[in-house]
Parts: sequence; C-alpha cells; structure tokens
Amino acid sequence: STARLTLDPAFLIGPVEPRLFGSFVEHMGRCVYTGIFEPGHPLADADGFRTDVLELTRELGVTLVRYPGGNFVSNYRWEDGVGPVEERPARLDLAWRSLEDNSFGLNEFLAWAARAGIEPMMALNLGTRGVAEALELVEYANYPGGTRLSDLRRAHGVDKPHDIRLWCLGNELDGPWQMGHKTAREYGRLAAETARALRRLDPGVSLVACGSSNSGMPTFGQWEAEVLESAYDLVDYISLHAYYDPADGDVDSFLASGADMEHMIRSIAATADHVGAKLRSRRKIKLSFDEWNVWYQSRFGGEASLEWAEHPRLIENVYDVTDAVVVGSLLITLLRNADRVGVACQAQLANVIAPIMTEPGGPAWRQSIFHPFALTARHARGQVLRVEPECASVSTDKYGEAPAIWATATLGDAGEITLFVVNRDRRGPCELRVALPQGLLPAEHLELADDDLSAVNSAADPGRVAPRPGTGLRMDGRDATLTLPPVSWTMIRFA
Ligand code: AHR
Repeated sequence: STARLTLDPAFLIGPVEPRLFGSFVEHMGRCVYTGIFEPGHPLADADGFRTDVLELTRELGVTLVRYPGGNFVSNYRWEDGVGPVEERPARLDLAWRSLEDNSFGLNEFLAWAARAGIEPMMALNLGTRGVAEALELVEYANYPGGTRLSDLRRAHGVDKPHDIRLWCLGNELDGPWQMGHKTAREYGRLAAETARALRRLDPGVSLVACGSSNSGMPTFGQWEAEVLESAYDLVDYISLHAYYDPADGDVDSFLASGADMEHMIRSIAATADHVGAKLRSRRKIKLSFDEWNVWYQSRFGGEASLEWAEHPRLIENVYDVTDAVVVGSLLITLLRNADRVGVACQAQLANVIAPIMTEPGGPAWRQSIFHPFALTARHARGQVLRVEPECASVSTDKYGEAPAIWATATLGDAGEITLFVVNRDRRGPCELRVALPQGLLPAEHLELADDDLSAVNSAADPGRVAPRPGTGLRMDGRDATLTLPPVSWTMIRFA
C-alpha cells in the first residue's frame, strides 16, 4: 500500500511530559524479589539491588515507577516494610496468594528509585484500609520531622523526607477480584475524603483516582462519572488500565490495539469533561494510564498460584516481534494524546509482563518490547506534533476499520523532528511519503521488523530481536519516502 503524511512544526499538540515514560514495580511474582532486588546475586550492590537491572532500567529511559501495586496494595500494610529487616513480619499476600517476607519495603524502594534516577509514584491501600492509614503513610514519607511518624522514618535511617509528589488513591477498586472492592459511590466518597485529608497534610501532592480496571468492565464510563462526581475538585488524574493480546488468534485486532487505546483515552476524557461541565468547573482532570502493556491473559489467565509460595514465577510473558510492534504503537497513542495523558506506566518493569527479564543468580536481558520503549523514551522530546496519515485501513473483528499506519512525531528544541510510525498491515509493506519542513534531512532511521514475527529474545539469545538500520529510504525534493515492512515499528529522525 501507499500512504502519506506531513510533518509541520506549526501543528503542536503539547509538550512531551516525561512522566509518560513510567513503569511499574509491584510485589508480584519476581518483579521485586530476584528482579530488581536480589541480595547475594553476584551483581547486587550493598543494598541488594541488582546493578545489571539498574543499568537496564536507565537504558530503558524509565522516568517514573509506580509502587507497590497493583492488586497487591489493596491488602498491604506499609508499616510491615519499614524498620529493621529482622523485625519485619511475614505476611500473606492475598492478591497473588504469595508469601511476603517484607525484606523490601518503602525505604528500599525509594533508595532504589534514587539510584535509578526515577520519580516514585506511590499507591495507597484503599481496599482494606482507609483515610487514617493513608495519612500515616504520607506523614511518614513526606513530613520533615518532629512528629511520631516522621521521627520514626528518621529513626529508620532516612533523615530527609522522601517528598513523594504523586499518589494513587487505591488500585482497581471496581474489580471484584480486588481486596476491599467497592461500588463507585463508596469508592468516590472514600477517594474524596482521603484526598481532602491528604491535601491538608501536604498541599503539594498530585492525586490519582481509580478509573475502571479495563474498558470491558460492565461499569466502564459510569464508574469514572460517579467517582468524579464525588471527587472532581479534589483529584488531579483519573486512571486507565489496558492490556492487549491476540485473544483467539485475532492478530489484526491485536495490531490495532493502539487505535483502541486512543478510543479509550478519548472516551474517558469526554466522561471527565461531562462531569466537569455539570459541576460548572474550569478544571480539567488529566489521565493517568498507569497500567498498560501486552499481556497474554488468555494464556496465563492472570491467576494467583494455588500453593502459597515466595515470589513464584507469575505471568512471565515472553514477547515476540509482533508484541514489540504493538507496544511501539501503544507508545505512539500515548504521545498522540499528550495534551490529556499526563502520566503513563508500562506494567511491569522486571519479569512480570516486563521489558527486563532476569534469572535468579543469573543474567538479565532485554525482551523485544524493551526496544520501542527505550527508543521512544530517548528520542520523543520537546513538543508532540499533530500527524494525520492518509492511508489504507485494515478490517478488524474487534474494532472495525483501523488505519494501516499509526504515527506520531515530536519536535525538539533544535528544530529536529522524530517520526514514530507503525505499519500494522500484515498483507504487505507500505510506501510512506513524508512531506518535510524545509531544511530537514534524515539523520537516523531504525526499524523493528522481522521475517519471523514469532522471534523472541532469551537468556541464551538475548540479541535475537533488536532494532536495525532502516532500508529503502529515498529523498525526492523535500519529501522522504520510506518502505515500512509489514508489521513493523520505525523511528526516523530528521535534523
Ligand atoms: O499488572 C498486573 C495486575 O494487573 C495488577 O496487579 C492489577 O492492578 C492489574 O489487574
């Protein structure tokens, strides 16, 4: 097929918010234990943090990490994870039916985050706990000193407050699987009262209310409306979560996941704006897409293990080339909606549906999905440009007609433009003609594509799937023409 698009520095969507390149560390499976934290590993530092995983986290370009869950947080007592390690209790994690020894907790996470150079995003337990415990955690973490809980933090060896800016008011409380699951009215009131109290304690915090667990929930849309009717003026963000997989072998719909994600973003933005209109509010609620990824849920089921175990192998999804292209397209969607999405977290960082894999005592390596994330996080800088390709469409069973070409571009401070584009068409390559502003020429051209779309990386062959220099680029006057292989992700910089 053929397609065309224009890159015009005058058509700005908004700035690239660094918080769009977030990730997620949950106490689930081997994300924390034997993922980022493994005392005794040959590459662990004095705190037990795996330096190989720290290096990969930096290379991935992660800016922010949500912690400690996820479903885990809804039955978590943060106090269990602070203070002398030998005094910390072992607990039952009911979300994943795992044994939690609490050897890694709040202060370890914040020390790890500082070493990784990322901003923490903390989730509060609003499942089995409430306003009082949320206040206690924020006092412990953010108050300078001279009160019981801030002095307790200091006694635990952390003199300066952590000053955590971003807090999630619970996790997926619309889901019947969630400990302390609630109705929208119950949760909306609890979110509002928690937010009101937290703002008294620390007016500088930004707060995320829980939206729906996924767009297939029976209350999708209605849940957000009811929650915001209670909490509109007290929260800054409403959350979205979405996981995609080629369920029933429907690869064309899977490849159109980015278009579905955009539909979801626009639906929730409209819902929030509807509530704002009814309340006569001039505030805009932003979106926090704080869980997104490819997850073969139809294969793994997302189930908890039946036996109680310490850090069992849970949902260790191995990603192939198609998955990496879909992840690239989801990042494109987040950028295309940068005027509304202020935070986004790929779930998760290590081992659990993750770009980084590890073996206990062994190596760490990059999954296929690592690459589009790392390149987008590194090169999407400055302002997002509005890009509207003229292209063929692909018919999908789930989402109807989806454009074959999915694209976004960013404009850097020096006038350079980086185009990110996916050809989601399995039927063949696409000749894409790009109209460039005067003076720009191709500077770097990388693509992720493969004759074998099921190729994966592994400990034995960690470099099997990686970006390679793009081919078939021609200049014709001010236009550049690229050949996009079928099912491919491309990044091209013009400077
Ligand atoms: O990321 C895995 C799980 O998916 C999270 O714990 C939960 O919030 C979501 O359902």
